[in-house]
Amino acid sequence: MAQETLPGVTDRRLAALLTILAENATIVTSGVRIAREMGVAPSTVWEGVRQLRGLGVRVKAQLGAGYFLEGVPDILTPGMLRQRLKGSLFGKHIYHFFKTDSTNRVALELGHAGEPEGAVILAEEQTAGKGRAGRIWQSERAAGIYVSLLLRPRLAPVQAPLLTMMAGLSARTAIEAQTGLSTDLKWPNDLLVRGKKVGGILTEMHAEPSQVRFVIVGIGLNVNQEKFPGELGTTASSLRIETGKQVSRLELLVWLLREFENDYNRFLHEGPARVTEKFEAVSSYAHGKRVRVTNGTTSFAGTTAGLGPEGLLLVKRDDGLVVTVISGDVEAR
Ligand code: BTN
Repeated sequence: MAQETLPGVTDRRLAALLTILAENATIVTSGVRIAREMGVAPSTVWEGVRQLRGLGVRVKAQLGAGYFLEGVPDILTPGMLRQRLKGSLFGKHIYHFFKTDSTNRVALELGHAGEPEGAVILAEEQTAGKGRAGRIWQSERAAGIYVSLLLRPRLAPVQAPLLTMMAGLSARTAIEAQTGLSTDLKWPNDLLVRGKKVGGILTEMHAEPSQVRFVIVGIGLNVNQEKFPGELGTTASSLRIETGKQVSRLELLVWLLREFENDYNRFLHEGPARVTEKFEAVSSYAHGKRVRVTNGTTSFAGTTAGLGPEGLLLVKRDDGLVVTVISGDVEAR
């Protein structure tokens, strides 16, 4: 699907304006020069500046001289990403939104429209970010990474949830490399640091009974949030809170996409055993953890007993029966 036909996708002109301002960061660049470089009228530059400000980019105007950025914004523009992802599966079709409802929703639409494997859908802000079990994923502007990947693997639908766990492992490696933080994985999709959630993955798919048509892996990472609203404050954290330092979203995202591509290729060639083994090795939730499993209105207590071959969690109930958990919330007790 051509980028231009997707409503709301970042205007190429806006991205070009931001790139020019970022390349000349903190230097005043005249509106006429920007207009010339962009091949547009000066009034279009002014309109772009207005839009960027509305999106939280701090563009200053100096009367009679031009524009400059008050700081280099950590914005995930497709141009910058493409440069860093040359030759990668994820460097070809990058859709960037300053604001959208949900990148997973957009990715599903693209998937149905025939978009090829490897499309990356990114947003600086989501107004209806989807979490698991119908929950909302808080997506503060330019603070986190909100990204969905479109994949067309030759897999049976029962294997698709393994991609969620694989994505968790890729994100864990990227976070450790970028921040030094060690991340725990809570089955099936939570990334935790010191017991608080710093990321989650929502995999959605479109499939025939025996064959996946496409899978959307949606990854949300709390990167530079300084605090969380209401009750979330007790359960969620961000990499910035945990390290005390600002983290580059661009660097983290590039790392994540490279890791993901490696892990994905290995998964397709070698099968899922490596994913389940690695998950079991690094997740404190995989073995011997006292948990409560809740699914809708039913709930039971038990002790985790590893993963089945399709990545489903095994829990030994307190009455001795070993149960395979297909979906539901798992909480430490
Ligand atoms: C969870 O509940 O833990 C899963 C959260 C997944 C959030 C990400 S953010 C990018 C992508 N787009 C969405 O609407 N959701 C996922």
